[in-house]
Amino acid sequence: MSFDRSVKIAPSILSADFANFGREIEAVEAEGADWIHVDVMDGHFVPNLTFGPPLVKAIRKHVKTVMDVHLMIAPVDPYIDAFADAGADILTAHLEAGPHTHRTLQAIRGAGCKAGLALNPGTPVEAAAPLLDLCDLVCVMTVNPGFGGQSFIETQVDQVRRLRAMIGDRPIHIEIDGGVDPKTAPLVAKAGADVLVAGSAVFRGGSVANPAPYGDNIRAIRSAI
Ligand code: DX5
Ligand code: ZN
Repeated sequence: MSFDRSVKIAPSILSADFANFGREIEAVEAEGADWIHVDVMDGHFVPNLTFGPPLVKAIRKHVKTVMDVHLMIAPVDPYIDAFADAGADILTAHLEAGPHTHRTLQAIRGAGCKAGLALNPGTPVEAAAPLLDLCDLVCVMTVNPGFGGQSFIETQVDQVRRLRAMIGDRPIHIEIDGGVDPKTAPLVAKAGADVLVAGSAVFRGGSVANPAPYGDNIRAIRSAI
């Protein structure tokens, strides 16, 4: 993965058809997705339960772009190797998931994945400062994690601006996750974000049988920026 700060759209499969992940991934990539965002939830760190390493392994062969795995789990460390072995390209852990995030990020890179740090809306981005040199990506949550289809938290836009200033010219992606659509995308792109996760705004109105809306939805976000 070479680094560039051009804007990427990363559809979240949390909003996809759970009975057809492989076909949904192929469809949304064919319709212009740059990355595939995989929301792992453990029912403990967040009040929802999705899937784990077996699913990541099963969908790996369908992902031709980048598999961006968002770990909404606590603890993280015991599962890093399983997700890395399953084929994740990026593993993003929440700063709030445990007391030893520095070690977690080292372990993610040690397992051969790019390391991401996710911050909940209540966490000041300045908390990431001591960890930036261990990060390939920082994910600013613009909803409280756990569900798709929630409303964008506008106060996070200033957090993105501050984070962009902290990063400077280091090769670290700023990812936005939650409530991204053609209305909110320009706000965060202008503030310095370069990876936009979108679940409901991409998958709405389409299906594996009728994927054209996926392309329309992705283009609508891109052209809004
Ligand atoms: C929420 C997840 C997000 C979510 C985005 O906990 O991390 O990735 O799926 O869904 P939308 O784009 O519908 O807010
Ligand atoms: Zn996510």
